[in-house]
Amino acid sequence: MSTSRRIPVIVLGIGNIGRAFLTQLTRARSTLSTRYGVDLVPVILADVGGAIINPAGLSDSVLEAAVSAQINWQSLAGQPNAQPDLTGLDLIRYAAEHGIEHAVVVDVTASEGMTPALLQALQQGYGVVLANKRPLAGPWANAQTFFHHTRVRFEATVGAGLPVNTTLRYLVDTGDVVHRIQGALSGTLGYLCSSLEDGEIFSSIVNTARAKGYTEPDPREDLSGIDVARKALIMARLAGWELDMDALRVDPLYPDAMRDLSVDEFMAQLPQLDSDFAAYMGATSGVPRYMAEIDANGGTVSLKMVSQQLAAQLRGTVNQVTFWTKRYTDLPLSLLGPGAGMEVTAAAVLQDCLSLAQTTN
Ligand SMILES: NC(=O)c1ccc[n+]([C@@H]2O[C@H](COP(=O)([O-])OP(=O)(O)OC[C@H]3O[C@@H](n4cnc5c(N)ncnc54)[C@H](OP(=O)(O)O)[C@@H]3O)[C@@H](O)[C@H]2O)c1
Repeated sequence: MSTSRRIPVIVLGIGNIGRAFLTQLTRARSTLSTRYGVDLVPVILADVGGAIINPAGLSDSVLEAAVSAQINWQSLAGQPNAQPDLTGLDLIRYAAEHGIEHAVVVDVTASEGMTPALLQALQQGYGVVLANKRPLAGPWANAQTFFHHTRVRFEATVGAGLPVNTTLRYLVDTGDVVHRIQGALSGTLGYLCSSLEDGEIFSSIVNTARAKGYTEPDPREDLSGIDVARKALIMARLAGWELDMDALRVDPLYPDAMRDLSVDEFMAQLPQLDSDFAAYMGATSGVPRYMAEIDANGGTVSLKMVSQQLAAQLRGTVNQVTFWTKRYTDLPLSLLGPGAGMEVTAAAVLQDCLSLAQTTN
């Protein structure tokens, strides 16, 4: 008979990362149980339309059916025994009312509105794991709980599977003082910068990246720089700098006048930017990189020409982050590797769940 401690897992969001996470969890569960004595048991899966729930544990076949349904764009609400419309805050309360204790809530949505549900989860004594950056990058007044609470983990939010946040946390916890952070933190913009470096034309690069699914359907979500800014803010807050988004200057890769166009209009007008990018590339030496540079006072998120930094050596979707600290001064501490991808991101989420489970009494 298993002597493992049972840790219920509530998964919010069954998109790319949610599905990869469930697959990894199903495969790793018995190994983790044997090695660490914790059994991570999925009890609730939720998407935007509803949830499937079994406080005793959702079987592998139910999980597989839910994952397949999502791949075919069918909501969980259509699954047998689903609870349509039970999501967010109501769902977390429902979990407690139905006897689910000491759970880990995993936010793998891309939703703005998760903060109340996640705060409620903490109040109920649950742990929280996020791949979703939005609750962490909202106003500091709301987000600070997530940074101060010992039962919150969010390794996947910066650099996907790269241990960026763990490293920052370790530096600060051991008394180091972070002076400055610099990083190339977007796989999509990394691809764009490498292609510019190779002499390709801006509008063709964006068109190709969009066709290959490297960008969001509306490429402005990537080109706006806001996703990089969220990552920069998360790192700043981990470093101990209680900044808000207005402390960062974020330079989008398109002019303000193109902000409110439809996606089709935006794509049609993109070639108008080609000559500006060609002129920018020709005017300065070095290679283009979309960089976040932050310190205790704020920072910038913008396109730069770099030559000496480690970032100049990056290719494609590789991410890089460098910390200058009291201990790492002349030779700063750098991390470099894939900064996106379902498998590495899901693995970071799973590792966070395991870390929380191991500290649950
Ligand atoms: N892809 C990467 O490499 C990567 C790396 C690091 C971090 N992340 C982050 O990981 C998160 C997930 O990414 P993804 O690529 O898996 O996104 P995705 O494919 O768009 O999936 C998001 C999922 O969240 C669901 N959802 C939205 N609102 C919800 C709510 N209120 N309650 C429950 N579920 C809700 C969506 O449901 P519907 O389908 O029903 O709308 C969908 O299943 C994002 O925040 C992303 O920024 C991704």
